[in-house]
Amino acid sequence: MPQPQRLAVPHSAPSRAPAARRDDLADRRTPLIRNCWYVAGLSADLAERPRAATVAGVRLALFRLRDGRAVALHDRCAHRSFPLSRGRVEGDALVCGYHGIAYGADGRATCVPADDRAAARSAMRVRPFPLEERPPFLWLWPGDPEAADPALIPAHPWLSEPGWAYALGLTDIEANYLGLHENLLDTTHFSFLHAGNVGTRAYANAPIALHVEGDTVRQVRVLEGDVLPGLYDRAMDLVGKPVTRSTDSRFVSPGFHAAHAEVIDPEPAPGRPARYATKILHAITPIAQDRTRYWWAIARDWRTEEPAVTGMLREAIVEAFEEDRLALEWIRELDDSDALGAIPERSVRPDLGGLAMRRIVARLAAREGGHD
Ligand code: FES
Ligand SMILES: [Fe+2]
Repeated sequence: MPQPQRLAVPHSAPSRAPAARRDDLADRRTPLIRNCWYVAGLSADLAERPRAATVAGVRLALFRLRDGRAVALHDRCAHRSFPLSRGRVEGDALVCGYHGIAYGADGRATCVPADDRAAARSAMRVRPFPLEERPPFLWLWPGDPEAADPALIPAHPWLSEPGWAYALGLTDIEANYLGLHENLLDTTHFSFLHAGNVGTRAYANAPIALHVEGDTVRQVRVLEGDVLPGLYDRAMDLVGKPVTRSTDSRFVSPGFHAAHAEVIDPEPAPGRPARYATKILHAITPIAQDRTRYWWAIARDWRTEEPAVTGMLREAIVEAFEEDRLALEWIRELDDSDALGAIPERSVRPDLGGLAMRRIVARLAAREGGHD
């Protein structure tokens, strides 16, 4: 059994006199990271009408140009701050719903109906934001546009390449996004919070190999000779069969976590695969300090032609992510309201991955130096 480590991490709510905070560990009060690609919405949801989105506190209006390109502008008309997402798209312009000022993809006004002077047009300008479409997602960079390198967008080929099938969903969580990242790096909770779907008892003690590489964290767990949990066993048709199960979980950025899960059947039945690969992708978008939009996808390279299997996986994942949502919201609610105030946070060895992630985010936040 791993020995618990006494890692005292003061954990304080924003509204009370804070105990000493560990500046090297990000928590729910750490300013949201803006220099990062986040999912702002789904390709399929952006058609002829503009849509509102919020990413790291930044309010955005998304719309499509006539050639289909998706663009993002600050959702705030330069004239009287009417939300542009409540306007309409005309040709290649987003037209404000209040006095009809039209803005192009670069945020410059192309028409000011009440004042046709060029000076009036040039005074009206809203900020454009880098937006890149990688179906099924629209990726947005809310920070310094100079730093918005599309090569930094996390890859998710399993959602577009042949040979894979996937289920996609959205869970809104009224809690800080770092709790969700920590939850995803903490696979020991599978056996308890998700006892009915993702975890088996033996999984809680499977060894963890931790790799911190630059600003990413990777954890690998391998469990041999155990049966599969409810998420997989019926879907893979391996109920009660001892298999090898490995999970490679990666904190890729503040906006993305990818889990690569593999099941090896050492004695496959005739005509059945020996290896099953599943990718569980987590696009995590902080809306505000304590509000998070969580787009998830579960992709598989097995039984790809069977929609019933997609349905089974979706149902199990929705059940598990509801358990995560409730856990994170209950913790946030308690932290906000407990009259006895903050308690020191204690950690055990499997928390090292989560703590490494919080150190990285604290570093990224310090680098950004707060926002104006
Ligand atoms: S507020 Fe947008 S045109 Fe006046
Ligand atoms: Fe979970």
